[in-house]
Amino acid sequence: MQVYEITGGFGLDNLRTAERPTPEAGPGEVLVKLGAASFNFRDLMTIKGIYNPKQPLPLVPCSDGAGTVAAVGKGVTRVKVGDRVTGCFAQRWISGEPTSESRGSTLGGPLDGTLAEYALWQEGGAVSTPAHLSDEEASTLPCAAVTAWNALVAKGGCKPGDVVLVQGTGGVSVFALQFAKLCGAKVIATSSSDEKLEKAKALGADACINYKSVPDWAKAVKDLTGGQGADHIVEVGGAGTLAASLGCVALGGTISVIGVLSGTSAQLDIRSILMKGARIQGVFVGPRDCFETMNRAIALHGTRPAIGSVFPFAEAVEGLRFMESGAHFGKVVVKIP
Ligand SMILES: NC(=O)c1ccc[n+]([C@@H]2O[C@H](COP(=O)([O-])OP(=O)(O)OC[C@H]3O[C@@H](n4cnc5c(N)ncnc54)[C@H](OP(=O)(O)O)[C@@H]3O)[C@@H](O)[C@H]2O)c1
Repeated sequence: MQVYEITGGFGLDNLRTAERPTPEAGPGEVLVKLGAASFNFRDLMTIKGIYNPKQPLPLVPCSDGAGTVAAVGKGVTRVKVGDRVTGCFAQRWISGEPTSESRGSTLGGPLDGTLAEYALWQEGGAVSTPAHLSDEEASTLPCAAVTAWNALVAKGGCKPGDVVLVQGTGGVSVFALQFAKLCGAKVIATSSSDEKLEKAKALGADACINYKSVPDWAKAVKDLTGGQGADHIVEVGGAGTLAASLGCVALGGTISVIGVLSGTSAQLDIRSILMKGARIQGVFVGPRDCFETMNRAIALHGTRPAIGSVFPFAEAVEGLRFMESGAHFGKVVVKIP
């Protein structure tokens, strides 16, 4: 089978195609013919050696993929040949909080990932693909969508009438926008681009703020909410945004700390956390049961992931460079022949 490997050192220049023997499904394993993979910010960090500089190479990158079961190993009962499945970000994480075992079972590092023609997963490490979704659409779900669902719904308890602030228009944030609308919440979206904000509006965003032309976007959020602030903030900015998020979170509101796009260390006035009774929750993707609950909602509502761009398998590196440029809206997907 054809795969992409990070080989001979980190960096996008060291991501190359290679031939590997197609694996055989052992006991409890399923072999999946992948139809699509999708990219996350983490994949770029992994390829560059920033996410885990000690990651042994070669490695097939990318955590997310969907396809069709091609073979099953002995004792497999959850799926059969021909079933359409999507891989779980962590192969050994069924429910509850993450453990060191589940954290060690993530695809695209330390385990080989989805930028390949075939993937070998645990039978418990895959979920059924919602029937209305193509492989390209389903491939966007394992990391970004599950993280957004876990933050907003499973841990966040988002409810009708809540105000949700989503930062930027990348993978996690656009899913958060879509799920917030499913919950009946009002959504405020931010972006560096007016053009992307138009797309966010088309997906249901109730109000939009360009965080480049309106640097004090926290004040804008307060103005848009009659001074109340946002009940849920999907924090992907990190160092450059957390203080402002604290400034515009509502009394008793929740900030889900998910990403560190603008750095990892910040100076904070801790008083606002306690004076507002705010909850700051770290979110690490989510377990399989969270994925399955989310898929039920996606199937019921006919939700379609927002795919900004699709690249052919032969142009996967160009796809990663495109994502690196920040030009994308929602998800960047690779179609696998
Ligand atoms: N904790 C977890 O389990 C988990 C899971 C998934 C992702 N993450 C993290 O979450 C972050 C986002 O991941 P992703 O895959 O969604 O990334 P992505 O698709 O690459 O999204 C990046 C987008 O974020 C926006 N952005 C960048 N800097 C910003 C800033 N300072 N303020 C507001 N928005 C900003 C930009 O949107 P505009 O172009 O619209 O401005 C940019 O296009 C990353 O740090 C990633 O590692 C964490």
